[in-house]
Amino acid sequence: MTHARIELDPAATVGRVSPRLFGTFVEHMGRCVYDGIHAPEHPSADADGFRTDVADLVRELGATVVRYPGGNFVSGFEWEDSVGPRDERPVRLDAAWHSVETNQVGLHEFASWAQRVGLELMMAVNLGTRGPRDAARLLEYCNFPAGTALSDERRANGAEDPFGIRLWCLGNEMDGDWQIGHKTAHEYGRIAAETARLMRFVDPGIELVVAGSSSAGQPTFGSWEREVVRQTAGLVEHISLHAYYEELDGDLDSFLASGVGLDRYIEEVAGILAEEEAALGLERPLGISVDEWNVWYQTRFNEQDKEPLLTGEWAYAPAIIEDEYAVADAVVVGSLLNSLLRHADRVTMANQAQLVNVIAPIRTEPDAAAWRQTIFWPFAITAARARGEALRIAVDAPLVSTAAYGDVPSVDVAGTVDGDRVELFLVNRDHRAPVEVTLGGAGQGFALAGEALVLTVPEGRDRFATNTRDEQPVRPTALPVREVAGEVLATLPALSWAAVSLTVR
Ligand code: AHR
Repeated sequence: MTHARIELDPAATVGRVSPRLFGTFVEHMGRCVYDGIHAPEHPSADADGFRTDVADLVRELGATVVRYPGGNFVSGFEWEDSVGPRDERPVRLDAAWHSVETNQVGLHEFASWAQRVGLELMMAVNLGTRGPRDAARLLEYCNFPAGTALSDERRANGAEDPFGIRLWCLGNEMDGDWQIGHKTAHEYGRIAAETARLMRFVDPGIELVVAGSSSAGQPTFGSWEREVVRQTAGLVEHISLHAYYEELDGDLDSFLASGVGLDRYIEEVAGILAEEEAALGLERPLGISVDEWNVWYQTRFNEQDKEPLLTGEWAYAPAIIEDEYAVADAVVVGSLLNSLLRHADRVTMANQAQLVNVIAPIRTEPDAAAWRQTIFWPFAITAARARGEALRIAVDAPLVSTAAYGDVPSVDVAGTVDGDRVELFLVNRDHRAPVEVTLGGAGQGFALAGEALVLTVPEGRDRFATNTRDEQPVRPTALPVREVAGEVLATLPALSWAAVSLTVR
């Protein structure tokens, strides 16, 4: 057993926690939409073919915003294919994922589903094969009330009221050579700026996200952000970053420190933004939209699964990147959420990628009830509890040596304060030993409020335990805590994530 002290000061705040930090992502990819959220043959399907068991889990997950319809898919997507009578919609090849797209779930069906499950729609426009004109036409179709050809087409297609979509992404991962219509920073900056300008003419009330880097490992990372920010200055509100983490070569210590990797990535982007904003005299700081993040065993996909996918049959809703998550993956997801909270002053939005089946917290099979993957839990509990202002928290904990990030504290913590309520999210990155944490603060008393929860390796299992269609052993259980002289003590098991609610006395 080791010991750590968490020093709390409810007045030491970083910034307001936006509900948009708990966004999600639905791409027309694999079995996320078809055979995921939408499966007319499933016994739980509603009149529109959407699975109600999935919808119930989406509501329980507590996500707030949904990015749609891609991802790589959007860079070849023609939105007009996805509206109008379903039996007249074209079947197309989706070159991004070597799949067949039937367009049976389109803009109207998805917007209506998102509203029913309580998700704000965040649309991405195609800047791969298309440009400003088509993006502006889509925006007019969605948001203009009536009386123009495009808005009247929407009404004729069943949506009398505009969709009122406020959040728009200017393309997806245009820095990546895997992207349809991949561009240099200069090329992308130009088209993003012109698209933004035209979209703003059509609807000045929108918020725009310009695409930053698709990972911190991109050769253009840094120079891409500078060029894109310069070209779109004053035209966009947010810049994206995408971040995926995985356990490589059995190096669990480094994997468990992935939150440190995200901290550094966000801080590097924030540093670049601060310099560029000062140089350009920008009055309003840009928000960072971490609009794809998660654990994804991407190396496995790239080395083993990608080539057969791209050379095989063109399939409808093929099973792509359906990662099955174990305990450590859930603990890392908890840490990544902590990193987002810690940067609430700059991170204005974030979307876990994706929602169903494709690297997702929710899994389905055609002949079973939907189930929660391990990573469902830290997301759902953090989204439900994090409120008010994010806290700056001092941690005194033993160090863990990692090959990827050097020495890092064994305990990772983030928290929020709302009135006298403090919510803490704790991770024991040490997978060898439990740690006793003392939660206290100079001159203040703290008491437990509500149930403390912990997610760790279930009794009789090992760290590779997963949740499957047949059994879901990885779930939160009650975490015993003690109150001693205005402080709260808890023992976090080795390799665990926990949530503790406190009241300030
Ligand atoms: O989320 C899966 C894929 O990851 C997305 O389509 C793409 O944007 C990213 O590379």
